[in-house]
Amino acid sequence: MKTQKKLLAILNSLLAEELTAINQNTVHSEMYENWGYSKLNMAIRKQAMDGMHHVVWLIERIVFYNGAPLVYRLNTMKIGKTVSEMINNNNDGKHEVVSAYHEAIRFASDLDDQGTVDMLSKILKVEEVHLDWAANQHKQIGQIGMENYLANQTEYLLN
Ligand SMILES: [Fe+2]
Repeated sequence: MKTQKKLLAILNSLLAEELTAINQNTVHSEMYENWGYSKLNMAIRKQAMDGMHHVVWLIERIVFYNGAPLVYRLNTMKIGKTVSEMINNNNDGKHEVVSAYHEAIRFASDLDDQGTVDMLSKILKVEEVHLDWAANQHKQIGQIGMENYLANQTEYLLN
């Protein structure tokens, strides 16, 4: 069926977004850790872990519809060179992903596919929390300045 083919294409494009974000977040979180910004490392590592759950749920749904999950497909990665670039890239990516999930939910809703709507809505709620996190980092940097912000991101962690 044509509509189901389109739904599978949408789910696979979200899958590519998630896989790309996991890779980008993993590189960023390790860069933060390398610079000693443990709090940023923990926050972004958590987002990478959340992304892994999203990948599982998307693959689950694609397989449920007898589709092929295109796990080898990745979008362009935006690895930042500075904390500011990294936070900006994270923020931009989250805006795109939130609107992609909104669009996908509308499409599934038009098909009366409540199971897919529920799954996508579950992911969307988490993406909104991530987006909120990125927006808050921007606010904090604006309020206290980058130097104070960075000083606040270090924390001695026992190994
Ligand atoms: Fe995600």
